[in-house]
Amino acid sequence: MDTPRAITLHLPRRIEIGAGSAALVGDWAQGFSRILVVVSRSTRNMVARLNLKGDVRLSSDIPAEPKDTDLATAIEAARAYRPDLVVGLGGGSVMDVAKLVAVLWDSDQDLADVVGPNRVAQKRSGLAQIATTAGTGSEGGIRALVTSTETGMKLAVESPHMAADLVALDPEVTMSVPPALTAATGVDALAHSVEALTNIRAHPLIDDYARMGIKLAGQHLAHACADATDADARTGMLLSSFYGGLCLGPVNTAAGHALAYPLSTRGGLGHGLAVALMFPHVLAFNAGARPEKTAKTLAALGIEPTVDPAQIADRTSAWCKRLGLNMSLAAHGVRESDLSDWAAEAHGIRRLMDNNPRDMRIDDVAAIYRAAL
Ligand SMILES: [Fe+2]
Repeated sequence: MDTPRAITLHLPRRIEIGAGSAALVGDWAQGFSRILVVVSRSTRNMVARLNLKGDVRLSSDIPAEPKDTDLATAIEAARAYRPDLVVGLGGGSVMDVAKLVAVLWDSDQDLADVVGPNRVAQKRSGLAQIATTAGTGSEGGIRALVTSTETGMKLAVESPHMAADLVALDPEVTMSVPPALTAATGVDALAHSVEALTNIRAHPLIDDYARMGIKLAGQHLAHACADATDADARTGMLLSSFYGGLCLGPVNTAAGHALAYPLSTRGGLGHGLAVALMFPHVLAFNAGARPEKTAKTLAALGIEPTVDPAQIADRTSAWCKRLGLNMSLAAHGVRESDLSDWAAEAHGIRRLMDNNPRDMRIDDVAAIYRAAL
């Protein structure tokens, strides 16, 4: 093996894993006096499960695919309240906003000052993250994304100051996620691990996290989709998502996520669904550049082995369909006339495209979009 490149890994300070772990947040938070809980419409009614004591306030509801303006509203509310602890209770959108609120509410810096790696000056509050979907793995990572209203593009902020002080991975708070969203977010989690494993910047330590993330998705995602209350499957997918999240900091994703972004920011598809629709095609496109890792991925998912890209795409797409996903872009409202502009935009997301193990031209992106239509 070649000497691995140097990497830096930031982890949450404390991680509570298991059924009922969300209820431990209250005891952990006893030293804090002003607690701001960042929520979405679907997690607002879960706050009581955290057993928080003292002065607790909720943010306004954070939408899926939050914009810079949604973040500004949340920061404004935090400025009025002055929290010493920010809690993210939700999926990736909520947890990303919680990270940014925790570092920006009492800062001279605004969002534009901190976009990119390592530009955040300091953290202003404690930060706890309770993941209510098994998908983004945002709870384990130090990156946060919001969409610019000016350009429609994702803005990515990365800082060790956004590492959580506490993470709770509690299968019980994910059981109300409906099957279609369980499937889409689960494939997103899987894609984080696969895109890191096959990445040009792959690293042996992160490869091991990625392999565990892929194996857990192969074992548990179908069960989590079939029976929402299957605690083993829900725990397995939370761990899969967490491992995928750990892959994002030091290695990150590649073409799969670059191709998914215009589907969300322009086409309005949820992030997990957008990633799921691209997953079989990008896995197939990259297979020749990463044959062993692709073969192991297919085996871990229980997909019949093949090295033929068309078969990889077909069989992986069929695997996604068995989870209950409709794998047609057109079925989700995408029109063929949109695809050439989106292909150019996806191709331009160099922070991800440059990680891909095989060069993908604009024509290749357009061909993948058309194949997925
Ligand atoms: Fe993702």
